Amino acid sequence: MLEQYETAKKYAQRFGQEHVLHFYETLSEAEKAQLLRSIQQTDFETALSLYQKADVIPAPPGEIRPYSAVDKSKLSKAERSHYADLGLIAMAEGKYAAVTMAGGQGTRLEFDGPKGIYDIGLPSHKSLFEIGLDTLKRKSLQIGRTIPWYIMTSRENHTAVEQFFEKNSWFGYPKEDIILFQQGALPLMDFEGKVLMDNPYTIKEGSDGNGSIFRAMRQSGAAEDLKRRGIEWFYVCNVDNVLANLADEVVLGFAIQEGAKCVSKSVIKSHPHEKVGVFCYCNGRPAVVEYSEITKEMAEMTDCSGELVYGDSHISCTLFHTNVLELDGVLHMPYHTARKKVPYLNENGQKTIPSDVNAYKFEAFIFDAFQFIDSFRVFRIRREEEFAPVKNKSGEDSPETARKLYLDYYGEGGPLDAKNKSSNI
Ligand code: UTP
Repeated sequence: MLEQYETAKKYAQRFGQEHVLHFYETLSEAEKAQLLRSIQQTDFETALSLYQKADVIPAPPGEIRPYSAVDKSKLSKAERSHYADLGLIAMAEGKYAAVTMAGGQGTRLEFDGPKGIYDIGLPSHKSLFEIGLDTLKRKSLQIGRTIPWYIMTSRENHTAVEQFFEKNSWFGYPKEDIILFQQGALPLMDFEGKVLMDNPYTIKEGSDGNGSIFRAMRQSGAAEDLKRRGIEWFYVCNVDNVLANLADEVVLGFAIQEGAKCVSKSVIKSHPHEKVGVFCYCNGRPAVVEYSEITKEMAEMTDCSGELVYGDSHISCTLFHTNVLELDGVLHMPYHTARKKVPYLNENGQKTIPSDVNAYKFEAFIFDAFQFIDSFRVFRIRREEEFAPVKNKSGEDSPETARKLYLDYYGEGGPLDAKNKSSNI
């Protein structure tokens, strides 16, 4: 233990973080071991370099140009069925997998546990995970083989997610076809560049953002597993979108037909100033810019048919070709810095709830990957068919709004009801 202690001390000192050992002498043997492990797995170097740039005002996004989406509702019947056929063939050949990102902290929902196990109050009381799984079960039945489902967890919630699936016998899905993989984490830093402590033997850290998914897939072995299974396409969604269609053959067929390596879905903004990111070209590359990064004129601009020019909002439903996992850019995504109010352990060992923001959190965003992908397309779908997020405890984008949207679209039986004729399934 002494040797480990010395190694940990040197490592922490190298980055000015020796305070993490402040309570070491007061700890039990098990706690000491936990602290040394916590130090060893913490990436001080990345956190410190991000801290040093934290207050640098980001450069303006650059030259922004409109990006035109393909509107699913405007496809002819023949196009749509051609895409659907192509997609179904690829699925039936085992070339497709779904990926759910469930490593977030779900702070706004104020639920104490992984968001995926949350019950939004449907008559069936299905969790967010099970709601997603239903679409895969239905499609798997249709194509005659099980669609593999990868779930990204965090260091914080991995065990709880695994136990939840285990306790529920993997909801009747083959266990080997639900693959959990963990994303990385970065320490939370105070404004003096010191990492915060959660308790005397644990460094306070947070998931490093959904943009780290590509690296996590590579590092965890999930990418290798895709390859082993002969999978060529993976479709990534948020765990909290109860209408996410985890197996959409039309978008898959569209990507195959178009030779696109990435297709991201959009919905039209509900009004010009909705606070969402929109698709565009930024310096000639596909991108998503935040509502705050475009001018009022741009937000309101319409084309000759009256449609918003910057109206396609990003909803985090994206199909990727597995080749994307080889791109250097997506494996080294840029980080964004947020200022957060984070409870922490003060220097006297007391748990402290700050009254104001006190920490930097560093996160990568999945949409930053688009700039690195040459054959990228945006596919516009109808909001009421595929987008019902659960973000807040109440009000907008809450369990209540999502529940209503789900029931309006699927009815009580959900996608597994054989009588359900929703176009999603
Ligand atoms: P959000 O950005 O909405 O975050 O994540 P969140 O954690 O769900 O909620 P808040 O902001 O703390 O209230 C969008 C999707 O990305 C996943 C989330 O689980 C959600 O499905 N995500 C987010 C990750 O998988 N990892 C992360 O590090 C962050």
